[in-house]
Amino acid sequence: MRSNISPLLPFDLRVEYKANPLGIDTITPRLSWKLGVSDDDAAHRGQMQFAYQIVVASTPAKLAAGDADLWDSGKIFSNSTVNISYEGRTLSSGQTAYWQVVAWDRDDVATAPSEMAFWQAGIMDQSDWRAEWIHAPLPRYTDLPAAAYMRGVVELKGVLSKATLFATALGVYEPYVNGTRVGDAFLAPGWTDYSKRVAYQTYDVTSLVNTGSNAIGAILGDGWYAGYVGFQKQRELYGDRPHFLAQVLVEYTDRTSEMVGTDGSWTTSYGPIQYSDLLQGELFDARLNLGDWSGPDYDASSWTPVAMSKVSPDIRVVADVAPAVRITERIAAISVTEAPTGSFIFDLGQNFSGIVELKASGPAGTMVRIRHAEMLNTDGTLYVTNIRAAKATDTYILSGASEEILCPTFTFHGFRYVELTGYPLAAGQALPPLDTVTGCVLESDTEATGSFECSHPMVNQLWTNVLWGQRGNFLSVPTDCPQRDERLGWMADAQIFIRTATYNRNIASFMTKWMQDVVDAQMPSGSFTDFAPKPAKFPWCEFGAPAWADAGVIVPWTLSQVYGDKEILRKHYDSLRRYFDYLVETNPELLWTKNMGNNYGDWLSIDADTDKELLATAYFAHDASLMTQIAFRLGEIEDAERYQKFFAEIKAEFVRAYVERDGQLKGHTQAAYVVALRFDLLDDVHRALAVKHLVKDIKARGTHLSTGFVGVGYLCPVLSDAGYDDVAYSLLLNDTFPSWGYSIKHGATTIWERWDGWTDTKGFQTADMNSFNHYSLGSVGEWLYRYVAGIDLHPSGAGFETILLQPRPDKRLSFAKGSFDSVHGLIQSEWRIGDGQIAWSVTVPPNTTATAIVPTTNEDSVMEGGRPASSAPGIHFEHSNEREVVFTLRSGTYRFTAAYD
Ligand code: BGC
Repeated sequence: MRSNISPLLPFDLRVEYKANPLGIDTITPRLSWKLGVSDDDAAHRGQMQFAYQIVVASTPAKLAAGDADLWDSGKIFSNSTVNISYEGRTLSSGQTAYWQVVAWDRDDVATAPSEMAFWQAGIMDQSDWRAEWIHAPLPRYTDLPAAAYMRGVVELKGVLSKATLFATALGVYEPYVNGTRVGDAFLAPGWTDYSKRVAYQTYDVTSLVNTGSNAIGAILGDGWYAGYVGFQKQRELYGDRPHFLAQVLVEYTDRTSEMVGTDGSWTTSYGPIQYSDLLQGELFDARLNLGDWSGPDYDASSWTPVAMSKVSPDIRVVADVAPAVRITERIAAISVTEAPTGSFIFDLGQNFSGIVELKASGPAGTMVRIRHAEMLNTDGTLYVTNIRAAKATDTYILSGASEEILCPTFTFHGFRYVELTGYPLAAGQALPPLDTVTGCVLESDTEATGSFECSHPMVNQLWTNVLWGQRGNFLSVPTDCPQRDERLGWMADAQIFIRTATYNRNIASFMTKWMQDVVDAQMPSGSFTDFAPKPAKFPWCEFGAPAWADAGVIVPWTLSQVYGDKEILRKHYDSLRRYFDYLVETNPELLWTKNMGNNYGDWLSIDADTDKELLATAYFAHDASLMTQIAFRLGEIEDAERYQKFFAEIKAEFVRAYVERDGQLKGHTQAAYVVALRFDLLDDVHRALAVKHLVKDIKARGTHLSTGFVGVGYLCPVLSDAGYDDVAYSLLLNDTFPSWGYSIKHGATTIWERWDGWTDTKGFQTADMNSFNHYSLGSVGEWLYRYVAGIDLHPSGAGFETILLQPRPDKRLSFAKGSFDSVHGLIQSEWRIGDGQIAWSVTVPPNTTATAIVPTTNEDSVMEGGRPASSAPGIHFEHSNEREVVFTLRSGTYRFTAAYD
């Protein structure tokens, strides 16, 4: 019987992946929602969206009254819920659109309307920028100049209804209005190629602005624009001092509006931030407190007028698509000790990126120095040689106030341990109290989407370490490491880790922004670079190395698959085409042997140097294969056929050049087999032989891996695909050198850059390159989700619209569970084995389907909810073999049991 209330409900409405975003500057932003069911009763299995209607209005009242004055999509017969382009009236700069969705379920019954959501337009037309770029014309005496404080006063005459601040900097800034810090972002506007593009941020400042006199302020630091970046002790990569641009859109109740912003009337001064540099740290002299410097009544008569900046019109000022960098967690210290040097060492128990908040009280002029380190030397002092030329030191000069809480503004560090020198102990204190320092985790604020847990504590710690590796390195750009003088957007690191990253966190907008950085860095030749953004002063990485440059193809393809995002492919298709053409033009024999740039190979492998030309050619073929799929997806059929032909030809050349008759690959390394297998470069006979050689090599090394960055992410998936789950598990559970477990056995709380970052026999590796927070080797996370928990993308199902559920239990674990909140909703999988049985429960979100592979040798034993699986609602039996039984599931929650021995 039909009910007139659908059990479905649209929720979690998104615009360009964000909930209620401010500052969207595309004319046709993409709208998405998820569908929930009111209960997960078996009767609701297979709920689908049969149709939808989007309504968009210029005010909440109009929306509520059914007056969709901006857009009414009408009833659209489609099950799409992801990335649907807005086709309504073009919004004006700063205009807010309010929207709702109604869906019709599989019985064509309408759902209740979703909750109202909104987005606010950014600056839609460059001519709407009335503000002008300004800078502080103050002397900059050292290589670590002071931060500039800037303020401007505007008189507002009418009665206000809304105020929106648009602001950005060539540099980094912190905005203020009438004495209040605006928002909670750190290091805005983030790092882009400032010679081409800078992002502005949009803030609702309605509650901070009043009729009458209003002050707008900003603190301005050097950041990536003018401060130290990279490992060559270089600064001023884009300019010699920072610049600032801001304007407020003020809307009045009489429906008039005005734009007021930075201009020549602003003034500037130095203040307590004596310097603040990303790599070197901050010097903050609290005695120089400026008081209410961004308040309207502040006496700024001693301040200097700002100077107007000549910023090239070629630098595009665009709306920020990335998530803001924020403090996402506060970490309490777990111990404090006195080091032989007399300093105090705090252990925060976790290696992470961020800053320390210091609590102190002492006489004015007391200098407290904070140094940061990932590890300790055996004598208990900080191990800081691995951070190379980065000083990563914050210094505070106390004002003498009774309790001072101090935190740096424009820097971050990668650390677990904190050393305090000069801390004023109170009378009778032998050590500072533990709460003297608090760790503040800084990261691009991406939402958690994945979880994983199993019966093995070491594996759980590994998953945690992988996640912390991501959190520590996704800070405006995906960096290699957060602690030393490097912190660059290295491309191989990002491409090998991206699949893992997409499970852990919703990185769609973070990576959409970075992909633009990758394209901005593309050379006129077509080559992508080794890292992005790539400052012009770093010319040595312009010929992108194999597996590094290829991130330019792998990253957008992965995003399109995981998030159902076709637009990222369309947007960058020309760049991708140019890159592939460049590879073909420079390597017409179809072996990638020329123009290999810095050619890093399978970076940081262990006693196993993979042939670099083999590796490069494998990636060349992989590019051809991905380009084929990308072109098909975009409907570029002729291109697709051309790329397919290239794939076949490169593959043939690969086999001719690097594969022996017995299936051995040139150089015979694990990484060589892994890329050849993963990229489908072998025929059936050679494939079977190659798998045997791979497994033999692993066993010959005492069941140890030898792969570096490039092979490691594919190692366990390739073994599983070839039927060697047991070997993959052995690698996972290993705790002898080299293995993930080895680092955990020695206290790792993040993923190390090198397998041998520290060993029993040699201690620390060379400090020249020894980070303890590099995520690349953590790319095993993908395998934990895809094969251990068993949550995978179905090849036909971009955006997890169709799901592959394929857990591969191993008796060394008694249970494992994982979840992934996809753009189509929450997917869950949990298995438990014992007593000759497997119990496996899964959740398939509404409006999706899943292929579920039950690992059992006994087809008849498969039950769901206590009845034979084949007769349970929502389930369709597909086929079985001696290892598994395959079903198609419609949405819902299922509880399987089956024989398992
Ligand atoms: C970085 C790596 C990077 C590599 C290039 C290193 O210094 O830390 O992560 O990919 O250089 O080989």
